[in-house]
Amino acid sequence: MVHAVDLSGRTAVVTGAGRGLGLAYARALAAHGAAVVVNDVDAEAAEAAAKLVREAGGRALALAGPVGPSETADALVHAAVAEFGGIDVMVTNAGVLRDTVLWKMSDEDFDTVVNVHLRGTFTCVRAAAVAMRAAGRGGRVIVAGSPTGQRGNFGQTNYAAAKAGIVGMMRTWAMELARAEITVNALIPVAATAMTRTIPFFAPHVEALERDGVALPDELRKGEGFGTVEDVAGLVVYLASAESAGVTGQAIGIGGDRLALWSHPQEVAVEYADGGWSAEAIAAAWPATLGRAPETVGMPAPGEGQ
Ligand SMILES: NC(=O)c1ccc[n+]([C@@H]2O[C@H](COP(=O)([O-])OP(=O)(O)OC[C@H]3O[C@@H](n4cnc5c(N)ncnc54)[C@H](O)[C@@H]3O)[C@@H](O)[C@H]2O)c1
Repeated sequence: MVHAVDLSGRTAVVTGAGRGLGLAYARALAAHGAAVVVNDVDAEAAEAAAKLVREAGGRALALAGPVGPSETADALVHAAVAEFGGIDVMVTNAGVLRDTVLWKMSDEDFDTVVNVHLRGTFTCVRAAAVAMRAAGRGGRVIVAGSPTGQRGNFGQTNYAAAKAGIVGMMRTWAMELARAEITVNALIPVAATAMTRTIPFFAPHVEALERDGVALPDELRKGEGFGTVEDVAGLVVYLASAESAGVTGQAIGIGGDRLALWSHPQEVAVEYADGGWSAEAIAAAWPATLGRAPETVGMPAPGEGQ
């Protein structure tokens, strides 16, 4: 029998929760009983999100501020402790895009994305880890990766760097925080939001969903793992709960009707040469050994399957 997941007595911080996936996470966490500190750089969106949660009977506090600097991270954890008595769950979701190909990407495009995603995840999780370790009651850290970070994607140098870095930090933190019974996992979500609605393959379906409530077709929900933001929220609630004790260090894909476990990078082929490998020896061996089945990069184009 499936029993209800109960988060009552727990407090969560969700960054970038004014809209999109973060808003869905905040609403779902609160609906399962957690008190939620709702952050967004957009103060109006943060206030409106906290109001929505409260109107649905949940407990929420809005705290606007830009994720990235440690001051915001510290303020978020402080608010959780001061207002709700502690922090049990940190969800680092805030994000921005500045897409363009490598040769056109400015320093500013690179720094903006890395600051919000990578540094923002670092500062928020560090602040949460300090408070969780001091309180000694364990905890849950849920960070946001992306298919782009796992595989690479055309036009997303900055975003790929940040998202791959986040999953790299997640693996390290899962090890460092295990003794304190703090689990650390990465979501690899796909959902219809401001970030994805303009992808030509998805756009007409998202429009029909929003305008006429037409459900997304199986081709998208199963084939592409593409659905609504609510489809992703169940995984966040699970990872925030007692039910997921022992699940740590995992990158978990979710979207539409799909739930998937991503592999971590590992060696897939190894060759040995007595005394080591010269350039000449590698050139001679490559085609018949490691070069026989090179790893692919990038995601399958929509419609081409997984
Ligand atoms: N939508 C997808 O399919 C998808 C896929 C992979 C990963 N993600 C990741 O999920 C997360 C949420 O994405 P989304 O699609 O809901 O995006 P969104 O643009 O709909 O929402 C992002 C929110 O973050 C806020 N934000 C931006 N910069 C911030 C900052 N410095 N501090 C605080 N808040 C800030 C924005 O104001 C916005 O409300 C992101 O980390 C994104 O990279 C989304």
